[in-house]
Amino acid sequence: MCGIVGFAGKDGAKEKVIDGLKRLEYRGYDSAGIALPINGKIEIRKHVGEIANLEKIIQDDDFDSSIGIGHTRWATHGAPSDVNSHPHANRDNSIAIVHNGIIENYIELKAWLSSDYGIKFKSDTDSEVIAHLIGIYYDGDLHQAVNKAVEQMRGAYAIAAIAADEPDKIVAVRKDAPLVAGQGDGFNFIASDIPAMLKYVRSVYFIENNETVVLTKDSIRIYNEEGKIVKRELYHVSWNADAAEKDGYDHFMMKEIHEQPKAIEETLVRRLNPDDSINLDGISMTKEDLEQFNKIYIVACGTAYHAGLVGKLTIERMAAIPVEVDVASEFRYREPFIDDKTLFIAISQSGETLDTLEALREAKKKGARVLSVVNVVGSSVARESDDVFYTWAGPEIAVASTKAYTTQLICMYLIALYMGRTKGLVDDTRYESILSELKALPAKVESILNNKKKIESIARKYYKREKVFFVGRGLDSGVSFEGSLKLKEISYINSFAIAAGELKHGTIALMEEDALVFALATQDFLYEKMVSNVKEIAARGARIIGVAKEGRKELAEITDEVIYIPEADDIVTPVLAVVPLQLFAYYVAKERGCNIDKPKNLAKSVTVE
Ligand code: AGP
Repeated sequence: MCGIVGFAGKDGAKEKVIDGLKRLEYRGYDSAGIALPINGKIEIRKHVGEIANLEKIIQDDDFDSSIGIGHTRWATHGAPSDVNSHPHANRDNSIAIVHNGIIENYIELKAWLSSDYGIKFKSDTDSEVIAHLIGIYYDGDLHQAVNKAVEQMRGAYAIAAIAADEPDKIVAVRKDAPLVAGQGDGFNFIASDIPAMLKYVRSVYFIENNETVVLTKDSIRIYNEEGKIVKRELYHVSWNADAAEKDGYDHFMMKEIHEQPKAIEETLVRRLNPDDSINLDGISMTKEDLEQFNKIYIVACGTAYHAGLVGKLTIERMAAIPVEVDVASEFRYREPFIDDKTLFIAISQSGETLDTLEALREAKKKGARVLSVVNVVGSSVARESDDVFYTWAGPEIAVASTKAYTTQLICMYLIALYMGRTKGLVDDTRYESILSELKALPAKVESILNNKKKIESIARKYYKREKVFFVGRGLDSGVSFEGSLKLKEISYINSFAIAAGELKHGTIALMEEDALVFALATQDFLYEKMVSNVKEIAARGARIIGVAKEGRKELAEITDEVIYIPEADDIVTPVLAVVPLQLFAYYVAKERGCNIDKPKNLAKSVTVE
């Protein structure tokens, strides 16, 4: 999604803003720009394409400023172009803004501004409306002008605005799009996300919905909707700066695949007490709350939804509560049955996916208790939930989610174990055995990663295939959907996942010589059934790659290759089975020369509907 950056300091705003924009590139964008107040006017430089294009056009500028704002745009209204890039200005260039989000009533605002104020719009964007709105209300006080402007706007927005006549001040406001303020020594930042400022500051304020920030080089003042100053705790960011770098890997995605053992361990240990009981710090849900739930919804998008598919089976199996999993964009509009006995679990890596956020709000409105599984501390989903289980995966930069997925699975297991044990359905023996299985996962994932050359050679053999299927049963079915999404989104191959038992109801018609099929057979109690499915597929000439636990030799006799994963209890094998699929997708995309970390048309966090 779009990224915004603002800097207020003694000088050098141009470099700090450009640097901040570069740190936000991972959010996905199609153009970039900056605005600086210079001698009573605002200089705007913006260009479609990469930030490097913007740097080219400003390298000859001999001006700089003490404050500035910048933007990386991911087009929602108006095609990618120079004129549609941000920042946008009002008609006399005395106000400039950058915006992340969507102004839903921009068409009526444009009509009103054109008819009543004779304003001529330059761009096709919704965002330009904001600059003109602030412009008509500006009378020397930018803060008040922004307040008046946002009163007329509907939609989602994180905005930063500057005025030529107040060249020491940035005013920012947020509603349903992320915004963070960073405190430096003699300078301050405002941005969509922490990496934009991590090189310069470690102490940040998370800005809440409907709050406004007035930022100068010496102060960060946060105001609530009533215009009252808000006292907010500073959050200390513990990531090291290069956590957002690649650590020597060719791509963030490979780095993050290799971070999974550590991320899994971190997520696990932070939730275990010395006596191996589950630590519920920050969770206000009580045993009594738990016992009154008679239904659970797990709602998410994309990879997070696939983690929910695994969560459903594990929670039902351990806690005997019916669990329904749904994609957020469907859940919101299907009148779900919710009351105060419903637990709503939102899963989101970014914590800013608007579909998931709106689904959470819908559930909350109807009385559900909301527990979220989120990777970004202080993100909107986290802040709007009653309780949060954080995944401790660290920043996930690659658009294709990997370590967030496996740590989301860990949270699903912990929630299932806690519920099952609290309800007396998981006895000590079962509890201890599953916990030891979870603790053994980092080393087992490591051993799969050490075997990645085999997966690379399989990818080299099959990277030209245009028909790739992923099939499985039970927990393997959910993992198949994740494997297929990984391949689709970074190699652009038209991949397809289906429950293996469903093949005979139509899809098996596609099984021919040109098909490549990943057959996941890690569930012991379904293994025989999977062997028969594989035989049916093989009989039609498709190439088959099996994924199974070590020692399952029958599969090797009826497939072209088998990728073995270490022995483990059925219930935790999704964490292991997904790793070869992540690696396969990565190597295929690499062979195909695709942009692995920033696939075309995709964004790291989809903060629009
Ligand atoms: C996953 O690889 C994709 N990038 C995408 O499906 C993602 O999982 C989805 O947009 C949900 O994002 P979230 O977890 O940040 O809510």
